[in-house]
Amino acid sequence: MITPASIPLALYVHLPWCAQKCPYCDFNSHEGFSPSLQQPYVDALLSDLDSQLNWLSGRPIGSIFIGGGTPSLFDGESIAQLLAGIGDRLTLSGDAEITLESNPDSADVLHFKRYRLAGVNRLSIGVQTFHDQALQCLGRLHSGDEARHALDHVRGAGFDRWNIDLMHGLPGQSVTVAEADVAEAIERSAGHVSWYQLTIERNTRFWSAPPTLPSEDELACIQRRGEELFQEAGFLQYEVSAYGRRGEESRHNLNYWQFGDYVGLGAGAHGKLTRPTGDIVRTHRTRLPNDYLKLNQRAGMTPPATTTISTQAVIAEFALNALRLKDGVPLSDFTGRTGLPTADLVAAAGEAISKGWVANPATQQFVATELGYQFLDSTVATFL
Ligand SMILES: C[S@@+](CC[C@H](N)C(=O)[O-])C[C@H]1O[C@@H](n2cnc3c(N)ncnc32)[C@H](O)[C@@H]1O
Ligand code: SF4
Repeated sequence: MITPASIPLALYVHLPWCAQKCPYCDFNSHEGFSPSLQQPYVDALLSDLDSQLNWLSGRPIGSIFIGGGTPSLFDGESIAQLLAGIGDRLTLSGDAEITLESNPDSADVLHFKRYRLAGVNRLSIGVQTFHDQALQCLGRLHSGDEARHALDHVRGAGFDRWNIDLMHGLPGQSVTVAEADVAEAIERSAGHVSWYQLTIERNTRFWSAPPTLPSEDELACIQRRGEELFQEAGFLQYEVSAYGRRGEESRHNLNYWQFGDYVGLGAGAHGKLTRPTGDIVRTHRTRLPNDYLKLNQRAGMTPPATTTISTQAVIAEFALNALRLKDGVPLSDFTGRTGLPTADLVAAAGEAISKGWVANPATQQFVATELGYQFLDSTVATFL
């Protein structure tokens, strides 16, 4: 049986407000922020953490990701209070990666300096595109120049590590404009770019009024040219949408894909935790910020709801995550993370192996083949 102590642990903190909801976004993000919400929300987050401490038995935290929503709506003092509160309750490993997501419209150098002083050591800047017309169509509140300005200030504020979030396949986007975005992001990043193809999600304004997107051929061309540009610049694609110089990979996201554990704090946050019995559970919190705030009553929060993941779902989730990684994971990690014999994973991968989509298990690496990676949706569907 596995022991939780042998599984890496990360912490995700969700700050759910945005200045304005973007028409393509289905994240748990809401309008209606006011600075007066910061203190009660930080109090609620720490109470949320208190309610889960018994489940963590002193395990060290390898990374923290403060995501949203738009975390950069919170001022440096609130982030400092949050990180100090986390530090009082948990042991952080010496080289813990602490990332905060920031939107260019709520970013200035003073903000960044304060985050750095608070202990944040990596920023993720949501640029999306440097092209003004495309930014407008995406409903973004910043211009290309404001994104450039934000990026100019990151190093000056004391950060050595930052990511740029970029999207492609945007309404009306040409291959040339998409290429220019990638080239500029490479130049302005510190070695990591998350490059997402725009997807039209249910429950978004783009779903009800779909914009005209590039054709399949154009999308394929954008994908191919982008990959070439990253490769020429020495950025390795290590996950479906993640490109980085060696050593610059997001340790926090790697932990998800390698099926590590994580604590989830905040409105709508999920966690994944391994129990001393070997069971793996998901934790859930209510989605709406006001409902979440109301949970923090005088006596503090009660622990979040949990659902035990069935063995079949554990195998599928492990596969779905690991196969997103270009190099996959050692086959033995399956037993290390789940306590199950590798034969269970090999059996579940039978169809994908026979179709040549997942490598032969004799390689001792659980990894998609080139063909399987090209058609990853079909590959992972064989595990469901
Ligand atoms: C948590 S979200 C947003 C973080 C931050 N609020 C921002 O907008 O920059 C993280 C990233 O997911 C990407 N994203 C969000 N919705 C998407 C969609 N429908 N299709 C593709 N990428 C999307 C964007 O690049 C975004 O920066
Ligand atoms: S993309 Fe970012 S800024 Fe836009 S609504 Fe979603 S979380 Fe908020």
